[in-house]
Amino acid sequence: MKTAILTLCVASAAAFAPASKPAFSTAVNGKQDFLEAEPYYDQSTVPVNVYKNKAPFTGKVVSTKRIVGPKATGETCHIIIDHDGDFPYWEGQSWGVIPPGNREKDGKPHSVRLYSIASSRYGDDMTGKTGSLCVRRATYWCPELKADDPAKKGICSNFLCDTKPGAEVKMTGPAGKVMLMPEEDPNTDYIMVATGTGIAPYRGFIRRLFFEDTPAAGVYKGEAWLFLGVANSDALLYDDEFQEAKKNYPDNFRLDYALSREQNNAKGGKMYIQDKVEEYADEVFSKLEGGAHIYFCGLKGMMPGIQDMLKGVAEKKGLDYNEWLKGLKAKKQWHVEVY
Ligand code: FAD
Ligand code: A2P
Repeated sequence: MKTAILTLCVASAAAFAPASKPAFSTAVNGKQDFLEAEPYYDQSTVPVNVYKNKAPFTGKVVSTKRIVGPKATGETCHIIIDHDGDFPYWEGQSWGVIPPGNREKDGKPHSVRLYSIASSRYGDDMTGKTGSLCVRRATYWCPELKADDPAKKGICSNFLCDTKPGAEVKMTGPAGKVMLMPEEDPNTDYIMVATGTGIAPYRGFIRRLFFEDTPAAGVYKGEAWLFLGVANSDALLYDDEFQEAKKNYPDNFRLDYALSREQNNAKGGKMYIQDKVEEYADEVFSKLEGGAHIYFCGLKGMMPGIQDMLKGVAEKKGLDYNEWLKGLKAKKQWHVEVY
């Protein structure tokens, strides 16, 4: 089984590997454990806000690649940033990016924007010296022009998606502990719900659980279940990797997509992520009852729909929704990072 994992790592990392650097440090030939806590699930040393606005870290872009097909709604890029081992992070954390230049309105430097880290702590090349971001260009559709208005495009996302290898990126963080995986119990089930770039932290989780030879991956026996909502098949993100994980770990990894502009929900409307989760509501509720952790990441706008759906299901089951949710939060099983 481990041979399969390493083959997968090589294939997958090679796809993102910079031409000028070897794809791997020698560490890939041994156990991937040089960035682990002792024991590996001890979160007391998780780094938080090591680099701040006033003294940011300068990373270097290794590569920037468009990762969606021609019919995707918008452009999403996978950006690998070299930190030379000086900016460690854990899966589920974010980096801040300070775009170059000043704001038009007051001439002050642009403010920091947060981006969930899309790689595991070892980076796509397993050296522990890079991190990856999954960034969607923010554009502004002008109703009068009936076209995108370039004057109003998002500053930081466009800066990142336009970067070339070697470009310097001012960064802060790592930020946040809300989206960490608990890891202590290797039987923990993870239910990961994403829209669009909300996939980023889960790509890190999935690489950690199924692509690496770490102590965490070695003992993992739970089920990690990914729900991803995007507009259409061209907008799917990291599908090749998820298919590999599914093929190699059919008992431990599940994958469900909601393609809003290609599929319909049971009522004949758009297939949103909450509709897809609802199809499996009984299983989701019983997993949560059994201690599963559920994560939501991506569009802020999905949360009302998610909450309405969960409330409806809870009521049908005779549960008091507010009490049920309070229970999940108290047991730290409920993780939300939306923007
Ligand atoms: P901004 O310049 O901040 O502009 C914001 C929006 O306003 C844009 O849509 C822009 O087109 C519009 N706009 C600009 N000028 C005007 C105007 N005059 N009138 C009307 N509209 C205007 N994003 C990702 O892509 N990937 C991630 O993994 C990710 N993770 C995140 C994690 C967290 C915890 C948070 C809080 C956010 C995350 N984001 C992520 C969102 C990200 O931080 C930025 O908010 C996003 O990239 C937009 O920033 P920007 O600088 O490109 O746009
Ligand atoms: P749609 O764009 O068809 O309305 P994005 O492409 O903007 O990152 O969005 C990712 C996915 O989330 C798309 O399929 C989008 O559908 C969907 N989406 C948009 N609004 C909501 C919402 N309120 N609840 C759930 N999903 C949503």
